[in-house]
Amino acid sequence: MAKFIIRGGKPLNGEIAISGAKNAALPMLAASLLTKERIVYHNVPQLLDIFTIKKLLLKLGVNMSETDPLIVQAERITNHCAPYELVRTMRASILVLGPLLAREGKACVSLPGGCAIGARPVDLHLRGLSEMGADIVLEKGYIKAKAKYLKGTEIYLDIPTVTGTENLMMAATLAKGETVLKNAAREPEVVALAKMLKDMGAEIKGEGTDTIVIKGVEGLSGTICSIIPDRIEAGTYMVAVAITGGRARFKNCCLEHLGAVIKKLKEAGVKITKVSNGVEILAPKEIKSTDVTTLPYPGFPTDMQAQFMALMCLSNGVSVITERIFENRFMHVLELKRMGADIKIDGASAVVRGVPKLMGAPVVATDLRASASLVLAGLAAEGITEVDRIYHLDRGYEKMELKLKALGAEIERVAV
Ligand code: EPZ
Repeated sequence: MAKFIIRGGKPLNGEIAISGAKNAALPMLAASLLTKERIVYHNVPQLLDIFTIKKLLLKLGVNMSETDPLIVQAERITNHCAPYELVRTMRASILVLGPLLAREGKACVSLPGGCAIGARPVDLHLRGLSEMGADIVLEKGYIKAKAKYLKGTEIYLDIPTVTGTENLMMAATLAKGETVLKNAAREPEVVALAKMLKDMGAEIKGEGTDTIVIKGVEGLSGTICSIIPDRIEAGTYMVAVAITGGRARFKNCCLEHLGAVIKKLKEAGVKITKVSNGVEILAPKEIKSTDVTTLPYPGFPTDMQAQFMALMCLSNGVSVITERIFENRFMHVLELKRMGADIKIDGASAVVRGVPKLMGAPVVATDLRASASLVLAGLAAEGITEVDRIYHLDRGYEKMELKLKALGAEIERVAV
């Protein structure tokens, strides 16, 4: 176990590069199960969650290099079961269900349990696969699915679920006939997956809109792909620069994917300028209070809610932050209050009254993005902040302390 020791109050300056996106790499690696052929992956981030999906694919019999670029080949699938001990560490393991079922006609995946940020059921994944003709039962905590073959059909998603859309889109690539996904997720990670599948020979239209049409094909080939930049990592570091009163440049950052985040940061007074090969961030003299409501893409991402709240803790007024995606995503509030923040939770909203300064304190990380908001608050706070249980951070941020140090932060990782 490890924690971060942060001495706050230093404006961040300098230049860093944004890594590949965790939430694009996970479904794209699961897609390797759809073909016998080799797939070459560039820009794969070194994260705990990537390590977990690699372990899972190896368990299913997939061959994998240890090189960069990463080479993956699912020539033969020797095991069709995603075990509890792996799925419970990363619920995105559910992304192997669609590809296994589509290619092999059978899959057994541990049902993901509850999560710190909400119940997070996978009923829409299962309903969609059943509508495609799969026979699905829940047995001893496992989803057992089988189908001689999947049939294309029209599926209306009650909620534009991200991994649900990805799972069903992957399954539909090898189904008989045409599948129409209605109220589909529009996230850039869904679009990146669709692009990869099309490079493998899949027939897909409408990705990035709320209606995706997939015409099933006989088989898919290998490809060479690159993981898109991580918009949530970029957004997190934009807040880091803004909250410390700094100025910095990010390379390998895709601004198109950050529309809503940039709009809200600009409302808060942050200057964000496109420059050759990246973006420049300039903090405001005074952080303006700004209201935010999390929504599916292209709305404001729930994965940036906690980080934006940290910024609003130091604003010049009152901000209302409303969480519409997950029912329990305010775990960071109590920890931020330990640092002197003034926040009142009222149902799905948090009323954040800006304070002149935050004070360093020992705090505990509870989930990936909540822990990022505590690091950001610690960077701005007076004195020392200790963020415990940073394994949550390692799941989604590549070498966070090294990147922050490159921007001049005083941060140390210490074993506990
Ligand atoms: C993806 O999770 C991301 N994870 C999450 O990022 C992100 O917070 C989330 O999308 C929303 O943007 C990955 O891409 C690996 P959803 P996912 O299905 O797909 C409900 C991070 O910090 N729902 O779009 O699991 C669900 O409970 C992580 O990197 C059902 O009710 O999210 C939630 O309220 C955290 N039934 C809403 O839909 C279902 O079958 C949206 O969830 C599926 C979802």
